Amino acid sequence: MYRSHTNGELRINNVNQEVTLCGWVQKTREMGAMTFVDLRDRYGITQLVFGEEHTKTAKTLGREDVIQITGKVIERESKNKNIPTGEIEISVTQLTVLNKSKTPPFTIEDNSDGGEELRMQYRYLDLRRTPLRRNLELRHRLSIEVRKYLDSLNFLEIETPYLIKSTPEGARDFVVPSRMNPGQFYALPQSPQTFKQLLMVSGYDRYYQIVRCFRDEDLRADRQPEFTQIDCEMAFVEQEDILNTFEALMVHLFQVSKGIEFDSFPRMSYADAMLNYGCDKPDIRFGMTFNYLTDLVKGKGFAIFDDAETVIAINAENCASFTRKQLDELTDYVKRPQVGAKGLIYLRCNEDGTFKSSVDKFYNEEDLKRWATQCNAKAGDLILVLSGETSTTQAQLSALRLHLGNQLGLRNPDIYAPLWVYDFPMFEKIKTPEGIIQWHSIHHPFTSPSEKFKNLTKEEILQIKDLNTFTAQAYDLVINGTEIGGGSIRIHDKKTQSIMFELLGFSEEEALAQFGFLMNAFEYGAPPHGGIALGFDRLCALFGGQETIRDFIAFPKNNSGRDVMIDAPATIDKKQLDELSIKVTI
Ligand code: AMO
Repeated sequence: MYRSHTNGELRINNVNQEVTLCGWVQKTREMGAMTFVDLRDRYGITQLVFGEEHTKTAKTLGREDVIQITGKVIERESKNKNIPTGEIEISVTQLTVLNKSKTPPFTIEDNSDGGEELRMQYRYLDLRRTPLRRNLELRHRLSIEVRKYLDSLNFLEIETPYLIKSTPEGARDFVVPSRMNPGQFYALPQSPQTFKQLLMVSGYDRYYQIVRCFRDEDLRADRQPEFTQIDCEMAFVEQEDILNTFEALMVHLFQVSKGIEFDSFPRMSYADAMLNYGCDKPDIRFGMTFNYLTDLVKGKGFAIFDDAETVIAINAENCASFTRKQLDELTDYVKRPQVGAKGLIYLRCNEDGTFKSSVDKFYNEEDLKRWATQCNAKAGDLILVLSGETSTTQAQLSALRLHLGNQLGLRNPDIYAPLWVYDFPMFEKIKTPEGIIQWHSIHHPFTSPSEKFKNLTKEEILQIKDLNTFTAQAYDLVINGTEIGGGSIRIHDKKTQSIMFELLGFSEEEALAQFGFLMNAFEYGAPPHGGIALGFDRLCALFGGQETIRDFIAFPKNNSGRDVMIDAPATIDKKQLDELSIKVTI
């Protein structure tokens, strides 16, 4: 028997028991003739005390050595209230060194001294640290809760293949060459989208899968090239059924994981989200919503506003006292290439009722007062204004709003503000690098139009002037400004699906070659269906109170998509390339 207990287990009522423990040496301290060792495993830390007869060997122990000890549980003289085992220690009678460790390249403590890159390289050591262990435990618990909950609703977990053909989720595919089919490639799934729809045709009317997805896209704090979805699909449902089912799942997870109760989640149309927050995933933990000043500010000789399509303002409450330096910092922020504004106009609503703006030359006190009224600003508030083309200005002001929200402490990670965003447009127009205008699905090409647009012909759709008004039965679950999930009611007839492919620029042959299997399936009794996928890594990070998903994944990639521990991706040898009929030209 290697051990009788773990290092997180022993308490004062175990005193006088003989125990055997195993673990890693966290720390050693010498005090006179005695040596104290903190022994760590996944469950906690237990203090060992080596008396005179063993202290010589104990002194040779180094950090991260793996040891086994036997000894008697005794009450500590000076107790440590910060750890659960802090009232006892083990008086060691026998010590076995199971394996010596090299000195680790960084300290394995809550706040390690190791830099990000180094810790990624030695991820197996980093994972010994408590914060990471807690994250993985949280992930485990959430996955169990999701499975239990969905099982109770009759959902079946069904695995779908990883070696497939391209699925159009909007990113690039990772591809895998096929040795047996020279010159041909599998694509790894960006999501199991088409398979879960086929399962609906097969009659498995409630499917889910906690599943790995692969997307070759630029990485950010909340994006990894391989990530996990809680992927779900239901048949014989409307949008309302999906929203209610997965809202209930989320309410359950909030309750069991965070002890937070929600009755229901608010809902906001995509159009309102864009109008009031300038983005489709608003953080509604705080207000600072948009105010449109366009009509108010034109015709006063200020060319920037006169030439702008839209002039939008936010009101930063109680910020009139911002210093010149703070305002400059905000201006620099919006001028960063990632935001891209040309400048920032401000209006201070002074405590004494007067106004001070950066465009006083063009606007008198009365004009400025009207701005303040439009923005519901009171004395002591600061109004910040951006102008230009509507969607660009909305995006820029949205970035500024979030930046200010962070700066003013309005984005407390302990507060959770879930929100359904619905009525997304079906399509957006995108200009290719060659200057060609193409239609693009905002969710994906299998998404059904809203009821009122369901039976339109291609010609009727082409006549719609503002594509934003051509809405889909598509929805996102947004929490604290992060897109946690997205889904839609699907098209389940071949005719509508063909129209959508045509609008997206697929020729009939191309559509058939890529999605013929789905279109055929639609001819064999496809039920009405719809679904959603929740980003599981994002959900874990959210419940763990962090923004980056990396530390909720045991072995993640770095920002350039590399695994620096195993050093992947890597070249492969010529023989392997030849077998795959691949010629590498770089
Ligand atoms: P979508 O593309 O919106 O929908 O993805 C669903 C959710 O997956 C998460 N997510 C990611 N998480 C980490 N890294 C990434 N690179 C990444 N990309 C997406 C997000 C997102 O909301 N098949 C559809 C779902 C459906 O229609 O049912 C789909 O994949 O949290």
